[in-house]
Amino acid sequence: MDWHILGAGSLGCLWAARLAAQKNNVQLILRDSAAITRYQQTPGIGLTDAQQHSRYYPIPAQLASDSQPIQCLLLACKAYDAQAAISQVAARLSGNSIVILLQNGLGSQQAIQQMLPEVRCIAASSTEGAYQQQPFHSVFAGAGHTFLGDLQPQLHSPPDQFIAQCSAAQINLSWSADINEYLWRKLAINCAINPMTAVHNCRNGELTQHAEQVNRLCAELQLLLERAGQSAAAQNLTQQVWAVIEKTAANSSSMRQDLLNQRRSEISYITGFACAQSNALECSTPTLHALHAQLQQTLLAAGLPAH
Ligand SMILES: NC(=O)c1ccc[n+]([C@@H]2O[C@H](COP(=O)([O-])OP(=O)(O)OC[C@H]3O[C@@H](n4cnc5c(N)ncnc54)[C@H](OP(=O)(O)O)[C@@H]3O)[C@@H](O)[C@H]2O)c1
Repeated sequence: MDWHILGAGSLGCLWAARLAAQKNNVQLILRDSAAITRYQQTPGIGLTDAQQHSRYYPIPAQLASDSQPIQCLLLACKAYDAQAAISQVAARLSGNSIVILLQNGLGSQQAIQQMLPEVRCIAASSTEGAYQQQPFHSVFAGAGHTFLGDLQPQLHSPPDQFIAQCSAAQINLSWSADINEYLWRKLAINCAINPMTAVHNCRNGELTQHAEQVNRLCAELQLLLERAGQSAAAQNLTQQVWAVIEKTAANSSSMRQDLLNQRRSEISYITGFACAQSNALECSTPTLHALHAQLQQTLLAAGLPAH
């Protein structure tokens, strides 16, 4: 199976390096010819592993406008870039292609499946962590697990060759027959933790000082998940949120990091998506809506987009 990886950011480089290390045929799709020129001045995609060893992989790069058909595409951009990015390569996809969606939150995956009804779209929910030390070089920041599953599970059986290639590349994954359950649960946990740490400018563990607000959020999110037909994802949500807070007490959430580093956040796909669903399902979630509004104000005050 031939791989194309669109987006050479933190996760794109992590996946590209691991797949290339196993001699898979991998191509990068970079934003423009200036990015290709910058990439050509590097030794290739860099990956620093958990033992602090760095290796470089001279993976070829191309533009979205290349004519080569795409068999397996890993979409490794942020949720707010996902639709624009996929539309640039849509003509290269066919009914035999697979698209893996790594985006956090919810909303972008469904929009892409609607744009490409004939294409097999597989969504990922991952707790792996990586960050970029410098352009085209990722540092593996935390072992985790990735759940993958079809957005249209009724149409497909598990893609054995794809799963085998990922496993051989040391990607710790499980196939799920109901990926929506994982995506919704992660969305709810993200909604209860990430925006709170951004508006209160604190590490995850310091949310114990806002326990009442966290508990109210959890109760509202549990109601929302149940109304959305995600009862399994709603089970024990409050306990799960506190377990994540305890386990990641020293961490600074991705949303807080985006704010501190003046980077656009994925708010529209986290609390934005949850608020829109809550409105559509006529669910009462005042704490969630107030938090979303407070987060928007915090982002605007920092000169960042509030969507
Ligand atoms: N990093 C993690 O540890 C982690 C963990 C779990 C989930 N996630 C999720 O995974 C997704 C990707 O995260 P990330 O941290 O890897 O993001 P990232 O470091 O910002 O990388 C995204 C890359 O996509 C590129 N890109 C965007 N649009 C493009 C286009 N049209 N053509 C070519 N390249 C394009 C960006 O290029 P430019 O720089 O030119 O914009 C950037 O290099 C996010 O939804 C994130 O929430 C990340």
